[in-house]
Amino acid sequence: MSVWKKHEVFEKNSFVLLIGILVMVAIGGLVEIAPLFYLKSTIEKTEGMRPYTPLELAGRDIYIREGCYTCHSQMVRPMRDELERYGHFSLAAESMYDHPFQWGSKRTGPDLARVGGKYSDAWHVEHLRDPRSLVPASIMPGYPFLAENKLNTRDIKAQLSVNTVIGVPYSEDQVDNAKSDILGQASPDTDAAYAFEERYPTALIRDFDGNPAEVTEMDALVAYLQVLGTMVDFSIYDDKANSR
Ligand code: HEC
Repeated sequence: MSVWKKHEVFEKNSFVLLIGILVMVAIGGLVEIAPLFYLKSTIEKTEGMRPYTPLELAGRDIYIREGCYTCHSQMVRPMRDELERYGHFSLAAESMYDHPFQWGSKRTGPDLARVGGKYSDAWHVEHLRDPRSLVPASIMPGYPFLAENKLNTRDIKAQLSVNTVIGVPYSEDQVDNAKSDILGQASPDTDAAYAFEERYPTALIRDFDGNPAEVTEMDALVAYLQVLGTMVDFSIYDDKANSR
C-alpha cells in the first residue's frame, strides 16, 4: 500500500479525520502555549514597577466600576503617531500587576496609559466633577458624586490578600496595614503617612481631592490616575538605547 493509500483512511472516514485534526491542533497549541509558562522572559524585567498602593488599587476599582475603560484605553502602541502623542509605547511589565488589565479596546477619549503627572490633582478633581468646565467640547460624563462618597475600605485587606494569590508581591506587612495605608497616603504629615511611606517609598502622598476631612472615592481615583505610566523611568531605557 502506498503512502497515499494510507491517507485514504482519513479521507473516507470523517470521524477519523476529526480525531486527526484534533491531534494536530493540540500539538500546535502545545508548541505555542506551553513555553510561555516556562520562559522567564515572557515579561521582561523592568526597573521601577511596584504593586499599586491600597488607595491606588481602590481607585482602579472605581475606574472599572464607572466604566472608564469603555471610552479610554491604556495601551500605547508602537506606532509613530501614538509615540508622539502619548510617549513611550506600553511594556508588558507595566500591566503585570493589573488584574484584569485595562488595555481597553475603544478610544472615545484619549489613551490614559501615561496620564500620570500630566495634570494637577485639582485639574482632575474639577475635570471629573464637570469635564465641560475645563474642556468645553468634551463629551465625557461628569462624576461629581465621587467627591462626596466616602471611600469604602471594608474589603481592602482581603483584596490585597487575593492579589498575592495571583502573583502580586505584596508583603505581609502591606496586606495587614492596607486599611491604615489608605488613610496614610491621603493624609500627608501624619503618623499613618510616615508608616505608609516606609511600605511604599516611591508612592505619592497627597490629599488628592483637596478635602482633608475624609478619604473619598475622588481621592482614590485621582491617586490611581496620577500613578499611571509613572512607575517606569523611561529615560534610563532611552539612555541605554542611545549609548549602544
Ligand atoms: C463617554 C466616554 C467617556 C467616559 C465614560 C469617560 N471619559 Fe474620560 N474622556 C472622554 C473624552 C471624550 C475626553 C477628552 C475631552 C476631555 O478632556 O474631557 C476624556 C478625557 C479624559 C481625561 C484627560 C485625558 C488627557 O490626556 O487629556 C481623563 C484623565 C479622563 N478622561 C478620565 C476619565 C475617567 C477616570 C473616567 C471614569 C470615571 C472617564 N474618563 C470616563 C470620554 C469619556
